[in-house]
Amino acid sequence: MNTPASYFDRQYADAADPWRLAERWYDRRKYNLTVAALPHPRYLSAFEPGCSVGVLTGLLAARCDRLLSTDRVPSAVEATTQRTANADHVTVRQMTVPEQWPEESFDLVVLSELLYYFNSATRTQLLNQSAESLEEGGHLVTVHWNHSVAEHTCTGRDIAESLDMVPELKRLARYDDPDFTLTVHEHSRDAGPALSPARAEGLA
Ligand SMILES: C[S@@+](CC[C@H](N)C(=O)[O-])C[C@H]1O[C@@H](n2cnc3c(N)ncnc32)[C@H](O)[C@@H]1O
Repeated sequence: MNTPASYFDRQYADAADPWRLAERWYDRRKYNLTVAALPHPRYLSAFEPGCSVGVLTGLLAARCDRLLSTDRVPSAVEATTQRTANADHVTVRQMTVPEQWPEESFDLVVLSELLYYFNSATRTQLLNQSAESLEEGGHLVTVHWNHSVAEHTCTGRDIAESLDMVPELKRLARYDDPDFTLTVHEHSRDAGPALSPARAEGLA
């Protein structure tokens, strides 16, 4: 089953930042690892669904010419809007995925701590939608918690394995921590290997 809207509404009714994402070193380190893993120095247009209070949004904004960040909960959208108030190139919208999905294409999609709220069929749908939204050579980054949580349908390691099944996505990197798994995939219809940062600069 997909986690119902009421769960997220309750979380934000009880606290402005329910997962304390703006407070903990654990999250700060993970966000820094996430942006450090981005293969390109800059992206033209990125999509970040499930942005919550916008802490990762702020770091992504520094690497993107345009960034669309969305959340299903209005107070999360408001918090991210405030956090990025000085960044005109960031658009924050209320949007519930997978039912609502942007029509434009992107060279970066970031799914951070989101996919385990969905059943396997919806997760597959979200991965396919992400792959379809990516331009050739674009990147999909995922980051998810590995410990067991009542509301989670799977772990970061499970998500990493299902990503390897999406035909248009080639894995560039995977980082496994006891706590979370981070993956980077390139959208590529080419038979050859994914374009690593060193190959992109002619070093390999
Ligand atoms: C655990 S927080 C992760 C926040 C952020 N991505 C990060 O890594 O810090 C999950 C967020 O996803 C949002 N969310 C859950 N289901 C969603 C859906 N179907 N569509 C859009 N946002 C959703 C929740 O409201 C919540 O803000």
